Amino acid sequence: MVATPQEPNVSRVEVPLGTRSYLIEISSGEANRFARAIKASIGDLSHALIIADEAVDTAWAGPLADALATTSGNRIRVSKTTVPSGEPSKSINQFQSLLEWILDEGGDRRSVVIAVGGGVIGDLAGYVAAAFTRGIRFVQVPTTLLAMVDSSVGGKTGINLPGAKNMVGAFWQPSLVLIETDVLSTLPDRSYLSGLAEVIKYGVIDDAEFFAWLESNAAALVDRDGPALRYAIQKSCQSKANVVGDDERETSGRRAILNYGHTFAHAIEATAGYGSLLHGEAVSIGMQMAARLAIDLGLTDAALLDRQTALIKACKLPTTLADADPDTLLPVMMRDKKVAHGKLRFILPTKIGHVELRGDIDQQAVRKAILATR
Ligand SMILES: NC(=O)c1ccc[n+]([C@@H]2O[C@H](COP(=O)([O-])OP(=O)(O)OC[C@H]3O[C@@H](n4cnc5c(N)ncnc54)[C@H](O)[C@@H]3O)[C@@H](O)[C@H]2O)c1
Ligand SMILES: [Zn+2]
Repeated sequence: MVATPQEPNVSRVEVPLGTRSYLIEISSGEANRFARAIKASIGDLSHALIIADEAVDTAWAGPLADALATTSGNRIRVSKTTVPSGEPSKSINQFQSLLEWILDEGGDRRSVVIAVGGGVIGDLAGYVAAAFTRGIRFVQVPTTLLAMVDSSVGGKTGINLPGAKNMVGAFWQPSLVLIETDVLSTLPDRSYLSGLAEVIKYGVIDDAEFFAWLESNAAALVDRDGPALRYAIQKSCQSKANVVGDDERETSGRRAILNYGHTFAHAIEATAGYGSLLHGEAVSIGMQMAARLAIDLGLTDAALLDRQTALIKACKLPTTLADADPDTLLPVMMRDKKVAHGKLRFILPTKIGHVELRGDIDQQAVRKAILATR
C-alpha cells in the first residue's frame, strides 16, 4: 500500500499492482507542487532526466526542471531534452538518440526519467526508461487530456515501426503520475475535446454513476472547469486503475474492455485519411457504432444509445460519420489484432456501466451498424 498524504486540491488514485503499485496525483491550480511531489515520492532521487515535448517545454518542462534543481532537500542533478511534437517521434531513431543522450548525461540505474508531454512522449520516454540498463524508474507528467485519462496510466510503453503502430514496446509501470488540470490551458480545443471521448468511454464501460455525473456536468467539462475536470480525471483513472490492477499484462481479457468503440475507431482512423479525424473523434463515432450493434444483437435497448448520443454531442464530439462505408471499414477491421480466426470480436454494452466481450459477430450486423451511423 502506498502512503497517501493529505493535501486539499489534490486527489489521489492508487494503481494496485503489488510491489509495482503507484499513485496518480491529480491537482488543479497546484502546478508548482510537481517538484515537491516527485521528491517526496522518490526519496533517493539524485539525477532527473526530463524528456519533454517541445510544445510544452517553455510552459511546463522548463519550470519543472528549475524547481527540481532548486527545491529544498537533496541536491538533484537535472538533465533535460526535448523531442519534436507528433507521432513520428515514436520511432526507433528517436528511441536510440534518447538512450545515447542518457548515456552522455551520465545516467545510471538510479537516474529517473520524467516524461512531460502527451501520449507520444509518455510512450516513448516510458520505453526508454524500460530499456536503459534493463529498466530505470520513471514519472509521468501527462499534458494532454488523453494522456491524463488513458496513456499515462497502465504501464504500456512503446514505439512504432514504419507502418506498424505500437509494434515494439514493454509493460513498464511508472513510479508516479502527476496530473495538473492547469496544464491543459495551453492545449488546443479540438485535442482537448477529443480526450473527453475516453472519459465518456469509462462511464459506459464501468461506471453508471459517473456517466450520470457526466450528463449533468458536460458543459463545465467543455469549459475546462478545474474542479469538474479533476473529478472527471480521477474517476477515469480509477476505472483504468481497476482494470489494469485486474489484468496488468492483458492476459485475462479484462483489459480488453478499454477497447470499447476502438475496433471501429481504428478502422475509421486508418481509412479516414491521415489527420482528418483525431483519435477521440473516431472513438466517439466508434462507440456509436458499437452501441447500435449491441441494440441490433438484442444486448441492450435504444435508451442506451440515446443517452450516449446526447452526452457525446454535449461534449461537442461527432456522433456520425457521413461517408461511413462498410466496404472500406470491414476489411480493415478484419486485420485488427482482436480478430480471432476470422471472427470479429467487440466490446458491447449491455447497460450503462457494463460491457461484454462478444466474439463470433456476424459481418452483416456490423455492416448494418456502420450504415446506421452515417
Ligand atoms: N500507452 C497507452 O496505454 C496508450 C493509450 C492511448 C494512447 N496511447 C498513445 O498516445 C499517443 C497519442 O497521445 P496524445 O493524444 O496525447 O498525442 P500527442 O502526445 O501527440 O499530443 C498531441 C499534440 O498536443 C501537443 N501538446 C501536448 N500537450 C500540450 C499542452 N499542454 N499544450 C499545448 N500543446 C500540447 C503535442 O505537442 C502534440 O502536438 C499515441 O501515440 C497513442 O498510441 C498510448
Ligand atoms: Zn483510445
